[in-house]
Amino acid sequence: MIVDKVLIATKNKGKIREFKKLFEDFDIKVLTLEDMPESIEVEEDRQTFLENALKKAKEYADFYKIPVITEDAGLEVYALNGYPGIYSARFYSIDFGGKEEVRENETKDNANIRKLLRLLKDKTNRKARFVSNIVFYIPEKYGVWTEGYLYGKIAEVPKGDKGFGYDPIFIPEGYSKTLGEFDIEEKNKISHRAKATYQLKKILNKLLKND
Ligand code: IMP
Repeated sequence: MIVDKVLIATKNKGKIREFKKLFEDFDIKVLTLEDMPESIEVEEDRQTFLENALKKAKEYADFYKIPVITEDAGLEVYALNGYPGIYSARFYSIDFGGKEEVRENETKDNANIRKLLRLLKDKTNRKARFVSNIVFYIPEKYGVWTEGYLYGKIAEVPKGDKGFGYDPIFIPEGYSKTLGEFDIEEKNKISHRAKATYQLKKILNKLLKND
């Protein structure tokens, strides 16, 4: 089967940048929601990363009628029973641990980070992992999914402005700097998203050739 284009259905600019680089060597035209004339809102209201990614894949693919890739990702902190987890993007606003204001001139990412550091203040266990669940779905045909993890710990203070989200406070295992201090090429060698994308590319290489 010939799949010559795929829509990476996300509006997150950090993710778009990383995905575009990750698919650079792959013979498929990569579109993002920024390339689409109309947009739809899909609520991420499921209980797991995979269910959210599946829901988004189905709704976007049915709407645009082209193959889509969706991702649901987040940060799981061991001492917080896996929170922020599926709430990673809007952790600042949920009741767990008390709500945090988004102050003037700051982003939601900043408020998320402030809340997380507040909750970890007296905790010695700062272990955490990033999770990525990716779904590739061809409307009315089939879908496949992959996952990737990046293990590490939460820093005491934010450092670096090269990434997005929780990158400035995440120190990957085996390193002494935060992901916020990684160049995109360097992050794309080790990240949860890179691992899940690598698995997906392996599957797609087989599937699309043998179909
Ligand atoms: P999603 O768009 O619902 O998948 O939300 C993902 C949220 O998890 C983002 O808004 C970030 O807060 C966080 N996140 C996911 N992947 C990363 C990453 O690679 N670095 C930093 N934060 C991430």
